[in-house]
Amino acid sequence: MCGIVGYIGTKLATPILLDGMSKLEYRGYDSAGIAVYNEGHITVEKCVGRLDALREKVKGHMPEGTMGIGHTRWATHGRPSDRNSHPHTDDSGDFVVVHNGIIENYMKLKEELIAKGHKFVSETDTEVVAHLMADLYNGDFEATVKEVLKIIEGSYSLVFMSAKDPDKLICTKKDNPLVIGLGEGENFIASDIPAIIDHTRRTYIMSDGEIATVTKDSVWVQDIKGTPISKKVFEVNWNAEAAQKGGFEHFMLKEIYEQPKAMRDTMTGRIHGEEPIKFDELNWTPEEFAGISKIFIVACGTAYHAGLVGKYYLEKFARIPVEVDIASEFRYRDPLVDENSLLIVVSQSGETSDTLAALREAKRLGARTLAVTNVVGSSMAREADQVVYTYAGPEIAVASTKAYTTQLLVMFMLGVYVGTLRGTLDPKLAKELTLAAQDIPEQIHQTLENVDQIKVFATQYGSCEDAFFLGRSLDYAVALEGALKLKEISYIHAEAYAAGELKHGTLALIVEGVPVIVLATQSDVYAKTISNLKEVKARDAVVIAIAQEGDEEIGKEADHVIYIPKTNKFLAPLLAVLPLQLLSYYAALTRGCDVDKPRNLAKSVTVE
Ligand code: AGP
Repeated sequence: MCGIVGYIGTKLATPILLDGMSKLEYRGYDSAGIAVYNEGHITVEKCVGRLDALREKVKGHMPEGTMGIGHTRWATHGRPSDRNSHPHTDDSGDFVVVHNGIIENYMKLKEELIAKGHKFVSETDTEVVAHLMADLYNGDFEATVKEVLKIIEGSYSLVFMSAKDPDKLICTKKDNPLVIGLGEGENFIASDIPAIIDHTRRTYIMSDGEIATVTKDSVWVQDIKGTPISKKVFEVNWNAEAAQKGGFEHFMLKEIYEQPKAMRDTMTGRIHGEEPIKFDELNWTPEEFAGISKIFIVACGTAYHAGLVGKYYLEKFARIPVEVDIASEFRYRDPLVDENSLLIVVSQSGETSDTLAALREAKRLGARTLAVTNVVGSSMAREADQVVYTYAGPEIAVASTKAYTTQLLVMFMLGVYVGTLRGTLDPKLAKELTLAAQDIPEQIHQTLENVDQIKVFATQYGSCEDAFFLGRSLDYAVALEGALKLKEISYIHAEAYAAGELKHGTLALIVEGVPVIVLATQSDVYAKTISNLKEVKARDAVVIAIAQEGDEEIGKEADHVIYIPKTNKFLAPLLAVLPLQLLSYYAALTRGCDVDKPRNLAKSVTVE
């Protein structure tokens, strides 16, 4: 979604803004712009297209000045165009704003402002904010911002700049991320940490309703009533290189190979030898869990697929009924959530609008809530009653890989933890699972070494327009993720089906040469999965099977087999997904796709 950068200091603002915006490109955008203050005047340069188009536009006449704001826009209201790009100004050009989110009451406000003589040049909701500033300005910049915030409704990260008060930037947020970077004689504002990490590691993570006045030497935070808020400095422990590609061609490949480390980091402090799994951050008691009659897992996309796997863990180990919902459906189905419910939201970004809304709805209905997220200080992390972090590190590629496998790991650990807490999981099995989990990082490493065979398949089948993924039980949940990976970065039409569902329709699509990936890691449904494999083979599909090492039977049936190290069947999803991630990556390469920034998609969907 949109990316915001702000700078105030003693250096030229433009290069800092452009560099910061480049670090936010992963959020997905279709236009970009900057506004820089200098000697009484604000220069605005913006255009549709990539950042390079903006660089080209300012070449030779780089806006001077040491204070400015920048924005990469993901269109929500108003198609991608130069005039719809941010920053937006009022008629005079004295008030400038950049925004991430949606101003829900902008149409009514726009009509009122037009009736007062304001001239709008764009179709965006954001432009209303700049005109409101001019309309309400009473000589006090902060006070005017507060008045504007009382009027607008919706979700926003906003940064304001005014030629009438040129030694400060003001920023605020509601439902969208915003961080402040604390420098020496300079300060930074951004939607996300990678945009400022090259300048400072000391940050304030802004919370909803906080308004920050940022000068080059100070950051003052207050609420809308003017009550001062003291912020804790959040030290960013990512090194600059961690947010870069680290020698890999794409962020996605880097992040696929970071999975062993992401696993270890996510296990740290929670899994150790034969000791019971623990979550120091959870203060649940056995009695407290006794009262939970149902768990709801709500998420989007890949996180939703992780939730489907989590259902198996929690029902099997903790013996609690679990419902898994796509977030955009959840709150519109009048869910039977009450004080005996636990709602778990799963979200890499912690900012996905639909998932955040589901969290809020469940809280309104009295449920206890837990966020499983990868971003410290994200909206979901702050709004859920409890939060369990995946420690995957920054995930920049739009296609989620290490976040997914760490989500699986957290759901696995939660299942064993709650099962032990409730006494529903046999201690012997709990120990066996705990030990098996500690082998996963090395097993992932081994699996990722076996890439040559996958590259061949990707080249062979990369030109296909359709692909099918089949599996049963946990294999079906992973098949869904495999299909999403392939379609979202290679644009091949990929479908996942419960293998037993094939004959109820999809079999009609299986014709000669169609690639079908069959996951067969679950012993309890293995025989039936082999039968389904034979069904598609009988229609001359090309079958690539994913199976555990030591399985000799499947090689007689499938055209190709990709083996994963042998592990407990409950942990197999953490390994079975790896060949599917790599297959998707190399298929996308074969097809010349933009692997890290696939068309039409964004890393974090912060609008409904
Ligand atoms: C997965 O590869 C996609 N990028 C997308 O489905 C993503 O998982 C979904 O948008 C949810 O994002 P979140 O985990 O940040 O909430």
